[in-house]
Order: sequence, then structure tokens, then C-alpha cells
Amino acid sequence: MLHKKLKPFPKDFLWGASTSAYQVEGASLEDGKGPSCQDVKTVPEGTSDLKVCADQYHRYKEDIALMAEMGFKTYRFSISWSRLIPEGTGAVNPKGIEYYNNLINECLKYNIEPLVTMFHFDMPAALDKRGSWGNRESVDWFVNFAKVMFENFGDRVKYWLTINEQNMLTLVGPLIGTLHVPEGCTNILKETYQQNHHMMVAQAKVMALCHEMLPNAKIGPAPNISLVYPASCKPEDMLAAQNYNAIRNWFYLDMAVWGKYNNLLWAYLEENDATPDFEPGDEEILASGHPDFIGFNYYNTATVAASDGTEKLDPGADQQQARGEAGFYRGIDNPNLTKTEFGWEIDPPGFRSTIREMYSRYRLPMIVTENGLGAYDKLTEDGKIHDPYRIEYLRRHIEQMHLAITDGCEMMGYCPWSAVDLISTHEGMVKRYGFIYVDRDEFDLKTLDRYRKDSFFWYKKVIASNGEDLTD
Ligand code: BG6
Repeated sequence: MLHKKLKPFPKDFLWGASTSAYQVEGASLEDGKGPSCQDVKTVPEGTSDLKVCADQYHRYKEDIALMAEMGFKTYRFSISWSRLIPEGTGAVNPKGIEYYNNLINECLKYNIEPLVTMFHFDMPAALDKRGSWGNRESVDWFVNFAKVMFENFGDRVKYWLTINEQNMLTLVGPLIGTLHVPEGCTNILKETYQQNHHMMVAQAKVMALCHEMLPNAKIGPAPNISLVYPASCKPEDMLAAQNYNAIRNWFYLDMAVWGKYNNLLWAYLEENDATPDFEPGDEEILASGHPDFIGFNYYNTATVAASDGTEKLDPGADQQQARGEAGFYRGIDNPNLTKTEFGWEIDPPGFRSTIREMYSRYRLPMIVTENGLGAYDKLTEDGKIHDPYRIEYLRRHIEQMHLAITDGCEMMGYCPWSAVDLISTHEGMVKRYGFIYVDRDEFDLKTLDRYRKDSFFWYKKVIASNGEDLTD
């Protein structure tokens, strides 16, 4: 659709950016924080541990002041479960409450709306030992954690996100250090989707609890959604794209919004003898949770062809790679797209199609909770970071979001990844995403001082013009 005139961004559009606790905070065992699964995992060779990260725990005031200088309307951060409740259940850590109170209050001081992710890849290690999401009790653990957050922060936090990228926890959990597979497990897929089922039930309960405890708050899921293209107009490729769209994308949103398993996903699980077990009442619980909006992370689309029956799951594949599964789809590179330095395809028009597709399926307002470019940024002698590649990437995505708004899609906000440089899920500190540069290397912590990248000044103008001025 070619538009002659673009609709403006909504006047209360939430411009901001995102981080997650275990990737940005550091202070991994300070002030009573218990370890999370991220603190006890073996990090990929050649990458930093997660003890200090960007040290936001000690520098949140400086970080929030810089966000305010950019004109942020919102800051999406996550709450570390084991900072709040060190053992995951039981005693609450007063220092944890104090830290998040300070962080929230600091945001509000500058009229920055806190957008809180409740769970971002960091199960308390104590609960990991008890089986993590594989233990049915995880539903109650998560509901209790949510209650503690609602009680302590619900007077000031209006926007909540449940589970970050539940689809990636399920599809590439071991890569991001989260999937707990019990010893002797003979059907890993069934175990994985049983864990996934527990997360779904927990999410539905928490959405219902939020509406009950905080009637003025809004809550939604935050999956990683990438529209899947067929490799060609061959009908078999289209069927493969539908398969992978269901497995990767729609299942998670069908569940969050309608409380129902996607039929293609269910057929895939049946085929693999991997359907999860339901407890009595689960169907009702799943149907009882309703999101007020959809948060979603978008990095790039995926492209698949028909399976020829020989595909094997590649254990090294990450969040943005369609791997292929015999009988369902074969992941391929899209020859029409370029890639980032870290091998992720770049597809701004795919952002527009993803938004359009989601809106036509669910008709809920949407907020982008991640989108961004990981790159090897360099600090120059005179304290500058020239990152035109990031500006170009973000500009092209914002242009497409603007077109999607003109297409009639309801967008609430845009929070690229990331506000501040932080540690990547599996590619270390050198894969930088921030508007704010952090002076540290992979293993040398240096000064941890903050520097404004060129993209910082550019984004400030974008926000000031409510998305109208995207020029350098
Ligand atoms: C998303 C996650 O998958 O992408 C973030 O929600 C992550 O936690 C981001 O950091 C970028 O991925 P990566 O692997 O480059 O860190």
C-alpha cells in the first residue's frame, strides 16, 4: 500500500528503550541478591561473566538522567526475581525492594513511565535446582513473585510485561542459559513444551491477578515475533511458512490473547509425541487471562522452504535463525536481505508486515519492546562513538512503523534494544546495542563511564519531533 500522506505518531506515543536486569545491572550477588540461573551458568567461551555487566545497579541515576536527556517517555527494564526474593520463594529482600523503588522513582522524577518486564531469562538458581519451569509448582512461584511486585510497585507502575520471549526460552533455551532438562529425560521436546505450558498457565494467572489487584494497570506478553516468509510461491513453501509461523509466533500470541493452543502447533506436538499434560482447571485458567496490549521484540523476519525430511535441529542456532525441522520446514537465508556484523538479517519492511499481520490477527494495541542492531562500536580518542549503521537501522525501522500506523495498526510505543550497552545473551560485551556507550571491554572493566553515541543525539531529535524528524 503506497500512502500519499502519513498519519502522525499518536501524541502520547511511548518512545524509550529497553534493558534486562541480568544483562545490565551487575551487582550479581550484592545486597542480599540470590544467584539466578544466569549467574551459575557456564558462559560461552570468550565472553564476559554477568557479575558487573554495565553496573546499572550502582549507576542507575546517571543512566536515567541520560535517558531523560534523550527525552524518553518510557524505560523498559526487568525486575530480577532473585534480587527481590533470593530463594525464589519465601523471604523478600528489603534491599531488592529498595533498589527497584529507587529505580522507579528516578524514572518518575523525569516523567519516564516504567515499563516492567517480570521475567527476563533469569530464574532464581534455587528454583532451577527444584526443576525450574518443569516443576508444576513454578506456576505458584511466579504468581507469588508477581504479587510481591504488584504490592510493592503497583502504586507507580502502570505497564507490565509478563515473560520476555517465552518462544525463545522454548526454541533456544540452552543457548540463552535457561532450559532445565532433568537427567534421564528421554523426550526433550515433551519436557520443553511441558515447561512452556506451565509458563502459559502462570502468565494467564498473573494477567488475571494484575487486573484484580491493579485495575488501572495494563499488562501484556512480550514474545519475539518475526513474520515467516515462504521461500517461493510454491504451495509447499507456503505450508512450511504456516508451520513455522505457528511454532515460532502465533502459538504464543494465540495463547496469551485467546487462551487456546494453536491447532498447527498442537498437531506438531502430537506428531512428536510431545503434547503437554494439563491439570484439571488449566483450560479455564488459560481462558481467564487477557492482555491489554501486546509487547513484542522484532529483529528480523525468517524464511523457510518445504521440508525434504532430512532437516535436523541445529543446536547452535540462535533466536533469529530458522533452523528447520524434518516434516515441518527448512530454514533458509533470504537472498534479498543484508546481514548485521553478527549475521542477523536486516528487514525493515518485514517489521511493517509483522505489525500488520499481528494487528489483523489480534486487534490489540502494540508496543515494540525490542528492536536494534548489535555492532562492534568504537570509542574514539576524543570520546565519541560514530554509529551511523545503528542510526540507519533504526531510521528504516521507524519509517516502516510509521507506515504501519498509517495502515491502521494501533502502536503505543517503541523501545529499541538497548538503552545502555550491556552483555548479549551469548555473544558478550562486544556486541553492543546501546544509545549510551559503556567504557568496558569483554574482560577489562575499565572505567565503566558513560558516553553519548551519535545515535543518542539522533534519537533525541526523533523523540522531540515525535517521529517526524529522522534526519541525521
Ligand atoms: C532478545 C532478548 O532475544 O534479543 C535480549 O530479549 C537480547 O535479552 C536481545 O539481548 C539481543 O540478542 P543478543 O543475543 O544479541 O543479546
